[in-house]
Amino acid sequence: MEAYLEEMREAQRARGPATVLAISTANPSNFIYQSDFTDYYFRVTNSNHLPHLKAKLNRICEKSMIRKRHMFLTEEMLKENPKMSTYAEPSLNARHDMLIEEVPKLGEKAASKAIKEWGRPKSDITHLIFCSISGVDAPGADYKLVNLLGLNPSVKRFMLYQQGCYAGGTVLRLAKDLAENNASARVLVVCSEMTVVSFRGPCETQLDNMVGQALFADGASAAIVGASPLLVERSLFHVVSAKQTILPNSEGAITGHLREEGLTFTLKGNVPQIVSDNIEKSLEETFNPIGINDWNSIFWVTHPGGPAILNQIETTLGLEKEKLRASKHVLSEYGNMSSACVLFVLDEMRKRSVEEGKATTGEGFTWGVLYGFGPGMTMETVLLHSVPI
Ligand SMILES: CC(C)(COP(=O)(O)OP(=O)(O)OC[C@H]1O[C@@H](n2cnc3c(N)ncnc32)[C@H](O)[C@@H]1OP(=O)(O)O)[C@@H](O)C(=O)NCCC(=O)NCCS
Repeated sequence: MEAYLEEMREAQRARGPATVLAISTANPSNFIYQSDFTDYYFRVTNSNHLPHLKAKLNRICEKSMIRKRHMFLTEEMLKENPKMSTYAEPSLNARHDMLIEEVPKLGEKAASKAIKEWGRPKSDITHLIFCSISGVDAPGADYKLVNLLGLNPSVKRFMLYQQGCYAGGTVLRLAKDLAENNASARVLVVCSEMTVVSFRGPCETQLDNMVGQALFADGASAAIVGASPLLVERSLFHVVSAKQTILPNSEGAITGHLREEGLTFTLKGNVPQIVSDNIEKSLEETFNPIGINDWNSIFWVTHPGGPAILNQIETTLGLEKEKLRASKHVLSEYGNMSSACVLFVLDEMRKRSVEEGKATTGEGFTWGVLYGFGPGMTMETVLLHSVPI
């Protein structure tokens, strides 16, 4: 009996490591240049009588390293829903009606491109992981996506709501476990994030709200993860190990609360410091077993939570300027799209690596790290291995 169980278990498992086989991204077509945002924001929120807050938002936008951001919400939509433009009027129903429809649709835009790149029939998708901070519903965005894409109704679904910015790492960690423990599994991972849930006017006493208004943006990303690729499939990165941890003394540094007025959040000023205080320990735990201790000899896929986070990581670790290039590019062109960001960074990295004739998908380096940071604070650390180009 024991031998039979062991044999069955072996047969159920996949052989090789979890491998990213396709990556894709999508954004709503509506976008705004960061240089225009302060005027736009104070106009649509009828807040021009608060010039000191306007000047502060302008300073934050100038420091943000963001050039443009995509947002589903337009000025016309905000005019039709004026309660969404104040700081705290009940407006969850209006927000929710949009999100329940649009979060899966934006996810579908990214996922259909990933399936196309992958090159196999969509009926071969065995598992789906859908992640979004917003649009909680039953059946959820995972169910809607199965229908939008026309996936097999027996696809095994996992819906992660209300996670936040670290969850781009969470979905890869979960996809790895599914792909390695289920022979022939092909896991579709989708992160779809929209600021419809959190857009709101300024408030004198909640200045971190303005930080979020200046950084957060809409976007979706998708990946297909599986082990032992077939000939028709193309490996992009191996997911070698993945872990999640709660950072010490960080309670309350980033929080999000879903209330009648939508999602309100806290972003404490010491967030960049908390990340940089903890990053070296995480790197040592991850890379010591493979004999790496030079953080410039690996490729970097960091959640671009804000410029201060990227700058502080760079300074603390003595990273060369180009190490966080892909994260800075995504921050500049798209802003902070919460869980969707790290796959944008990974996509940018592998594409640029090809364009620049690098030897591997990881800018010529073999080993790399992917970091997600978010509410808690929680940190996800994913050890990646690139593939030769
Ligand atoms: C907000 C940010 C872009 C400002 O850039 P910076 O290089 O730190 O610039 P400054 O220190 O001059 O800050 C600009 C203003 O923002 C204010 N500010 C910065 N962080 C703030 C916070 N968390 N809450 C409230 N105000 C904040 C500063 O007090 C300053 O105000 P002032 O101009 O009136 O003095 C930067 O601090 C950042 O990236 N923060 C991290 C954001 C974050 O937590 N992201 C989510 C993680 S997933």
